[in-house]
Amino acid sequence: MDIKRITGAIPSEAEVVARVEALMGRMSLEEKIGQLTQIGGLSFFPGPKPEDIIRKGGAGSVLWINDTKQFNVLQKIAVEESPSKIPLLFALDVIHGYRTIFPVPLAMASSWDPSVAERAQTVAAREARAAGLHWTFGPMLDIARDARWGRIVEGAGEDPCLGAAMAAAQVRGFQGPYLGAPDRVVACAKHFAGYGAADGGRDYDPVYLPEDQLRNVYFPPFEAAVKAGVGTFMSAYMDLNDVPASGNHFLLRDVLRGEWGFQGFVVSDALAVGNLVTQGFARDGRDAAFRALSAGVDMDMASSTYPQHLAGLVEDGTLMLADIDAAVRPILATKVRMGLFEQPYVDESKLAQVVALPEHRKEARLAAQRSMVLLRNEGQLLPLAKSLRNLAVIGPLADSMEATEGSWMVFGHTPAAVTVVEGIRAKLPGAKVEYAPGPEIRRDIGSFFDDMPGAAKKTPQTPEQAEAAFQTAVATARGADLVVMVLGENADMAGEFASRASLDLPGRQEELLKAVVALGKPVVLVLLNGRPLSIVWAAENVPAILEAWEPGSEGGHAIADILFGDVNPGGKLPVTFPRKASHAPLYYARNLTHSPEGGWMYRSRYWDGPTTPLYPFGFGLSYTTFSITNLKVAAPQVTVGSSVAVTADVTNTGSAVGDEVVQLYIHQKAGSDSRPMRELKGFERLTLKPGETKTVTFLLGPAELGYWSTNTGKWAQEAEAFDVWVGADSLATLHADLAVVR
Ligand code: BGC
Repeated sequence: MDIKRITGAIPSEAEVVARVEALMGRMSLEEKIGQLTQIGGLSFFPGPKPEDIIRKGGAGSVLWINDTKQFNVLQKIAVEESPSKIPLLFALDVIHGYRTIFPVPLAMASSWDPSVAERAQTVAAREARAAGLHWTFGPMLDIARDARWGRIVEGAGEDPCLGAAMAAAQVRGFQGPYLGAPDRVVACAKHFAGYGAADGGRDYDPVYLPEDQLRNVYFPPFEAAVKAGVGTFMSAYMDLNDVPASGNHFLLRDVLRGEWGFQGFVVSDALAVGNLVTQGFARDGRDAAFRALSAGVDMDMASSTYPQHLAGLVEDGTLMLADIDAAVRPILATKVRMGLFEQPYVDESKLAQVVALPEHRKEARLAAQRSMVLLRNEGQLLPLAKSLRNLAVIGPLADSMEATEGSWMVFGHTPAAVTVVEGIRAKLPGAKVEYAPGPEIRRDIGSFFDDMPGAAKKTPQTPEQAEAAFQTAVATARGADLVVMVLGENADMAGEFASRASLDLPGRQEELLKAVVALGKPVVLVLLNGRPLSIVWAAENVPAILEAWEPGSEGGHAIADILFGDVNPGGKLPVTFPRKASHAPLYYARNLTHSPEGGWMYRSRYWDGPTTPLYPFGFGLSYTTFSITNLKVAAPQVTVGSSVAVTADVTNTGSAVGDEVVQLYIHQKAGSDSRPMRELKGFERLTLKPGETKTVTFLLGPAELGYWSTNTGKWAQEAEAFDVWVGADSLATLHADLAVVR
């Protein structure tokens, strides 16, 4: 029994090393390879039963089970019957909550408040650990600039600065102050790297990113996760510059371990080692195992390629035993640090107590409130009066728990969200709140998940049923004094296997919206969705639009809190909203051209419509107004290597308490390479009372002013002129000059 662990002390590095070496000394090659093997615990998976593999020491980790009792059954086999009695790591995707569901990560990024994500993942970790899980496959850190890509919902959006802040916060939330902290889980930074730049936004398609894009844009959240102490990494599926990420030495060895000093272990994405053959990279399974391990993939997620081929590769001298040992060590070290040898089992009564903690629901409601973005509020239609007595809530998502919780639930999760209809009814107990869904929405092409055993099968509406539902919805709206339309995407319309060619509201939703607006009633549009949508018509014709994303268990309450003014919205977009899907990828940090926007030649990059965003990155309204003034750069010049303070005053000029997210952008005007016309380099979310002024201070130093240059092939901070802007979104106009000098 380890007294230090029980008293909460962290084992020293020397202790961890000694215990790992002691274990290694008595493990056979097969058992070592077992530690490099993660098996899928799904009963319908072909091949030997998990119990039999574990008994032989053939698995280091198990994924795709979410059953507390079963965890203990399998763990008992591992620690009592397997040769070296090494406990298993139980892993699952806990992306935005285990039982208490938080807003999807894209929504949490909209809070521009890393503490929201940290607290959410603290709760997620507490519940997941109580269920018996040790390891989550999150946070997802892929920068995504193409709204067609379904997995944009899992990340923090388009920007490396915001992405890095959210990455570190999520790692802290999942893992706590140190790896092995009680009530926490090991985090996994995924998918390393570049996955968000899939050609055409098509999931899994190849990615071509030059090194400067990787280093300046796609890597920063991953590096931030390493700095925050993330325990594991996941290699991505797709080809990166013609080398699959799961066989990519540059990513996994040169950058991750070599440059960033990552000490944890790397797991492949699911089946990715075996897929190296499918992808036309490896000749066969043996070659795949060799190339993945050599590139730096320590653990094979569920493809069985390592257990089938590694021993043979060592026996014939293609791999050295030392190569295997180097991959095993960080896995064992993780298990030692987590205290699994002392406490391999989960207390089966704990989960029920933990999920019932009232603060979990409270945190979920707060996170949802802080994540929502007010996109439009003409004539200050919002906040609504609580004296309203006759409302209609219309739309296919208005009473959908699935759409409210959003994508990526843990296996076996039963939806239990407060829907928008329920939230509004709870807010106005005496009022008449009529609800009509209108026609259903569904994917044109079903997902792989629809075919999983146990997946609910629903017969599609006939066109006649859809038409009847449409007419009922319009009639319901006609009978009300005010209409809340709840439109967007079902939970299965964003996420993995969920890219889209269009960003329009799916199905007949826009048609229904137009029909309801034509009634002449005040209409509020609440969007539940996992990606930016093309809502050009709504943006011009619906007076109030609230982007609620997929807000989680307490979503309906949080939406009602905002609609009826108990909470003033303060979120900002972490992604650009393009007008059309064909504009993707569209992001604010583009380079200038010879004919810049606003110049004399420039009208639009396309002749058939404006190419400016519908809503810019960083944008979001409030029920109050703010002014940002008095921008000061502490010195007009700063020497290379030193830092300068940038300050601005933000004042609440309206009559309600509210939050503003003050954002700092820079542009390097000339240099070895062209630099983006704007780059976010700092932000702060502040709460201000009416009339109150606060001063925000940002520091611009070598980390903010430097970049990785294509022309020089290295990191550089150059003595050049910079623009500095501070404001409330990426179109900020408050400007100052800064010169970096030698
Ligand atoms: C996804 C990963 C996930 C893994 C395990 C893969 O298909 O790309 O994000 O962690 O499955 O469920």
